[in-house]
Amino acid sequence: MSSINSRTYESVPAQTVAFLGLGVMGGPMAGHLAKAGHKVTVYNRTPAKAEAWVAEFGAPGRHAATPREAAAGADIVFSCVGNDDDLRAVVLGPNGAFAGMKQGSVFVDHTTASADVARELSNAAQSAGFQFIDAPVSGGQAGAQNGALTVMCGGDKTSFERAKPVMAAFARAVTLLGASGAGQLAKMVNQIAIAGLVQGLSEAIAFGQRAGLDMKLVLDVIGKGAAQSWQMDNRGKTMIEGKFDYGFAVDWMRKDLGLVLDEAKRNGARLPVTALVDQFYADVQQAGGKRWDTSSLITRLK
Ligand SMILES: NC(=O)c1ccc[n+]([C@@H]2O[C@H](COP(=O)([O-])OP(=O)(O)OC[C@H]3O[C@@H](n4cnc5c(N)ncnc54)[C@H](OP(=O)(O)O)[C@@H]3O)[C@@H](O)[C@H]2O)c1
Repeated sequence: MSSINSRTYESVPAQTVAFLGLGVMGGPMAGHLAKAGHKVTVYNRTPAKAEAWVAEFGAPGRHAATPREAAAGADIVFSCVGNDDDLRAVVLGPNGAFAGMKQGSVFVDHTTASADVARELSNAAQSAGFQFIDAPVSGGQAGAQNGALTVMCGGDKTSFERAKPVMAAFARAVTLLGASGAGQLAKMVNQIAIAGLVQGLSEAIAFGQRAGLDMKLVLDVIGKGAAQSWQMDNRGKTMIEGKFDYGFAVDWMRKDLGLVLDEAKRNGARLPVTALVDQFYADVQQAGGKRWDTSSLITRLK
């Protein structure tokens, strides 16, 4: 389930690390850390996934029964779970990772969550003598498997510089964008930019199909011009074919757009198209597409 594609790693001193949450993203990310030579202890709420991970990536990997046990003795603790509440569940409380973190260590969270929870947990970490970096990712399941994610970070610069070469095991770009919460805010910018674009691409393809055009040929042509985009290159063909099982689920996108719209209420940004596309995604959920890929927006137009 965590299978990764091989890549070469920068030579960095081996670190003792923990990884909490071995889902579609976390499993392969933790796998790259192990392949890069780090000593990785994993935790997953459903233990079978942690057992499978250890079977696949082997020594020096091992799994722990609680986040606290996984975090004990680690230089850096990574997490990649679902949302704000899931993050609090693995971090706080007597069995949470924060209870096991050593002084001077760094917690790096790859969940797409709110900027508020990042600031809250960063304050809690600093009071306890360690640092918290918010570090959501872009690049999807393929990016995780290929070790080629883009990581957007917020937090303390010294701790970021410590964690950056370790994150390089699963990333092609790791950038500090500002204080705590800045990584999550940058990920929101990313999702705003994608939402309207996917709706535009859906309308373009649906229009072309009704016009009787060979849409694969059309995308091939206009993809070499000003209309080109990552979504067109990577999802255009599968949207034409009506295939939507490519990793980034509609449920996750609605979670992300909810974070975006909450933040916009606070900062006064106007997001009329993003708010509309969020409602279009609600239609897709109602039609049974909760786990379909985000390019399934086109199904509303068929
Ligand atoms: N998939 C993508 O393409 C993609 C791309 C960019 C960013 N992201 C973001 O990355 C994060 C993870 O996505 P994913 O696709 O890897 O999700 P996923 O496959 O559903 O995995 C979620 C992981 O979080 C764990 N988890 C969830 N709630 C928990 C809780 N309350 N306590 C403990 N563990 C909990 C799950 O444990 P169990 O195994 O026990 O359920 C699982 O390990 C999300 O924030 C998502 O928005 C995803």
